[in-house]
Amino acid sequence: MSDVEVAVGPIDELEDPGCREFTIGGGDWPFRGFVVRRGGDVFAYQNVCAHVGHPLNWSANKFLTKDKSAIICASHGATYAIESGECFAGPAAGKALRKVELAVREGVIYITGPDSM
Ligand code: FES
Repeated sequence: MSDVEVAVGPIDELEDPGCREFTIGGGDWPFRGFVVRRGGDVFAYQNVCAHVGHPLNWSANKFLTKDKSAIICASHGATYAIESGECFAGPAAGKALRKVELAVREGVIYITGPDSM
């Protein structure tokens, strides 16, 4: 397992606020994550809920509450702050999502993570 950098796409292609999933590596256990754009800021997290480890979303690229003010897990409703990944409501309160290293260069979002789980 080693860390690799992957281009997620241009920041302007994401809704504001909005999300896009990414995977790193292939096979049965790729590393899965998502980026969240809000204004000019972008954040990246592993797609694993801090409650019991389910993927956060049931629909492609859908990670936000209805009002798009926070990240929410579709399984049991753990709700996380967009900017920190900290859970402030629901069954994972006090825990946090795992951040993924991110950079924006010339308008393109790049993440760096392991090439497998
Ligand atoms: S697995 Fe996410 S709230 Fe339970």
